[in-house]
Amino acid sequence: MSNLLTRLRKGAAATAVGALFATPLALTASGTAASAAEPHVDNPYAGATQYVNLTWSQNVEDEAQSVEATDPGLAEKMRAVKYQPTGVWMDRISAIDGNFDGPGLQHHLDQALLQKQDSTPIVLNLVIYNLPGRDCYALASNGELPATPEALERYKNEYIDVIADILAEPQYSSIRISATIEPDSLPNLTTNMHEPACVTSEPYYLEGVTYALDELSAIPNVYTYVDAAHSGWLGWENNAGHAVETFVKVAQQTKKGFASIDGFITNTANTTPLVEPFLPNVNQQIGGASVRSSSFYEWNLSFDETDWTADLHRRLVAAGFPASTGMLIDTSRNGWGGPDRPTAPSTSSDLNTFVNESRVDRRGHRGAWCNASGAGIGERPQTTPSGFPASHLDAFVWIKPPGESDGSASEIPNDEGKGFDRMCDPTFHSPKLDGQLTGAKPGAPVSGKWFSAQFQELVANAYPVITSADALPFPGGEGPGETPDPDPTDEPDPDPTDEPDPDPTDEPDPDPTDTPDPGDAVCSAAYRTTGDWGAGFQGEIVVTAHEPITSWTLNFDLGGATTTNLWGGQLLGSGPYTVSNESWNGYLSADGTTTIGFIGNGAAPSSVAVSCD
Ligand code: GLC
Repeated sequence: MSNLLTRLRKGAAATAVGALFATPLALTASGTAASAAEPHVDNPYAGATQYVNLTWSQNVEDEAQSVEATDPGLAEKMRAVKYQPTGVWMDRISAIDGNFDGPGLQHHLDQALLQKQDSTPIVLNLVIYNLPGRDCYALASNGELPATPEALERYKNEYIDVIADILAEPQYSSIRISATIEPDSLPNLTTNMHEPACVTSEPYYLEGVTYALDELSAIPNVYTYVDAAHSGWLGWENNAGHAVETFVKVAQQTKKGFASIDGFITNTANTTPLVEPFLPNVNQQIGGASVRSSSFYEWNLSFDETDWTADLHRRLVAAGFPASTGMLIDTSRNGWGGPDRPTAPSTSSDLNTFVNESRVDRRGHRGAWCNASGAGIGERPQTTPSGFPASHLDAFVWIKPPGESDGSASEIPNDEGKGFDRMCDPTFHSPKLDGQLTGAKPGAPVSGKWFSAQFQELVANAYPVITSADALPFPGGEGPGETPDPDPTDEPDPDPTDEPDPDPTDEPDPDPTDTPDPGDAVCSAAYRTTGDWGAGFQGEIVVTAHEPITSWTLNFDLGGATTTNLWGGQLLGSGPYTVSNESWNGYLSADGTTTIGFIGNGAAPSSVAVSCD
């Protein structure tokens, strides 16, 4: 039974993954057209497509399959957005090589080359996010590097330098890399210096961001967008003024000055609306007071991200930044559609009632940043969106991949430095929110991990509503499951006179005395226990290919132990366990390896026999 399943799955996976990876080998040999270097342009998104992270697409597809039976309409909407481009987060050093959260930087760049259509440029959205003392005003995304001089050296040598070296490789010079620089870091220095952790982090943020800008802006095809928080954080005049001073200070201490920064990005991973359609005028009077004086806006002049980007651009240019400075807005989760979205301005004459009934932002407080309940996917990624000339928008982008958590709803032990921030706890009344409940969705996993319930809600509450018109084709050509050959009348071989085998008398095996491959297996696999705490354990299996393969399947038995939590592969069946590759790690060159890991319940087995085919 499990054999049959294995074979069927392997066949299916081989077609899908084969289609996905059919061209890389050819591309390395003949991909010169795709890798011609390009000049640095003003707006990298202009005339370009954006890179689709198929690991994210796979999460979306899995989610669509899980809701299909109960809510086919929702599944259809999920599939309509599954090939939208999302940000690739380098959220720790191991993300560069790839870890159990997904493949590494080179994989994404190689895939971007495959997705690139002839001479049309492609933009890959990359997030630089690993400063020492990261996330100083919160706990959910504290990272692996503490705020120490030694960690700053690691940030430079083991993180920024390694990323910059990869990006500078000539074969990637045709990819436009849009680098979001260190979300929340400079904004924290602007408003949160009453927090001791931010005081400690300050020198590392300033030096780290400067270093990142120096190294990355030296690469012609890299575009740097510095994070500028969102309107509900920096929109007040005081905060905006201080933020721009910080941006100027950092720009001036880089080697290239203002030229080291191509632009700024707002709303990264936040849910602040693009536009508040029913509150167009911040000075509108209700009951004798302006709407900006309401408790929700607290005198802020920027109600939404188009307000904030316009104000920010004006201030930056006044402070010396070039007028060409471009703006990005992360619209991945700021849609606020669904049944609670107002459809007209309120008719109340009470100021706060009017504002609360008119705003599309349904949060209790604009400072609520964690897994906001009720949010929806926002505008789809789009180049030079029209309608907001003062904002100087280069693009709407999806930097936060919808469905990835902002932080755990309760304490969850992890080895990524992720803390438990009560802003993610739905039962918590936060002093940072004037004592209001956080509004965070219950049941969230640690930041960055897939959060099914949130993804389902984001899709259901998308605004604009998701329709089949949003569906993008499989990036770069034929998709999984599509007919591999669109035209069966094509000549299979361009030169039918080619010798099929140059020398049919060749020895099939040059040295028949070689140790025979175990059963001529195309791959082998080895298990080891990497952690053991008595009642449970962590194990990993390294898969090694003996020849180039496009998929693999493992079969193994854990004795009395069980596992529910596995990464780097898809669990197809248990007792014995059957695991196949993910979309991104099925292709292995000869001697190539990939690793799956899992948490086991029960006693760690002393050895595990794993078969691989
Ligand atoms: C969070 C996490 C990070 C993740 C990112 C994108 O900030 O800390 O690990 O990659 O979100 O989901």
